[in-house]
Amino acid sequence: MLPNPNAAPAKIGVLASGNGSNFEALIQAIADGLIRAEIPIVIYNNPDAAVAARAQRWGIPAVLLDHRQYQSREAFDFDVVQTLAQYGVEWIVMAGWMRRVTKVLIDRFPHKAINIHPSLLPSFPGIRAIEQAIAAGVKIAGCTVHLVTLEVDAGPILMQAAVPILPDDTSETLHARVQLQEHAILPRAVKLAIGQ
Ligand code: GAR
Repeated sequence: MLPNPNAAPAKIGVLASGNGSNFEALIQAIADGLIRAEIPIVIYNNPDAAVAARAQRWGIPAVLLDHRQYQSREAFDFDVVQTLAQYGVEWIVMAGWMRRVTKVLIDRFPHKAINIHPSLLPSFPGIRAIEQAIAAGVKIAGCTVHLVTLEVDAGPILMQAAVPILPDDTSETLHARVQLQEHAILPRAVKLAIGQ
C-alpha cells in the first residue's frame, strides 16, 4: 500500500519503563520527517525512569502510572488505555515497556501495538534476553520489532537485526551494540506498520 500524503499524522502513544533511548530514536525519526506521525503522550511506570526527562525535553507530556498502585494487571491496563484515549492515541509503541499486557489493552489496540525486544525472537523471549543469549552460547544476538499479542514476545515479526556476539562481550557491551540496531529498526518498523 502506498502512503497517503494527505493522511493525518498517526498518533502514537509510547509506553516505556526505563531509559527511553528507543523513544528518542522514534521521536527523532518523526522530527526528521521520516515518519508521518506524532507522539502526544508517553506513559511510564517507574517514578525514576529517565524517559520522563527525555519526553519533557521534546515537549511531550509524560504521565506516570505506577503499576504498584494497582490491584491487578487488568486494572493497570485499564488506566493505561483510558489515558491513551484522552490523548487520541491510535497506535502504541512499547519502547522498553517491562510489563506483561492483558486483554484489556490488546482488545483496544488490535494489531496496533508494537514492541521492541532485544533478541532474535522466537529465541530468548521474556526478561534478561541479552543475558539469556550469552548464557546459551549463541554467536548471533539481535533485536526484533513485532506486533503485540497476549503471549509474551510472540506476535507477528515486523523487522529484525542481527548483532554478532564477540568473545569478550559482557551483557553491557552486547546490549550497547544491540541498542544501536534497535534505534535503527524501530523507526523503520513503525513506519512500515502505520503505512506513512
Ligand atoms: C531495549 O533494549 C528493549 O529492547 C528492551 O528494553 C530496552 C529499553 O531501552 N525491552 C525489553 O526487554 C522488553 N522485553 P531504552 O529504555 O533505552 O529504550
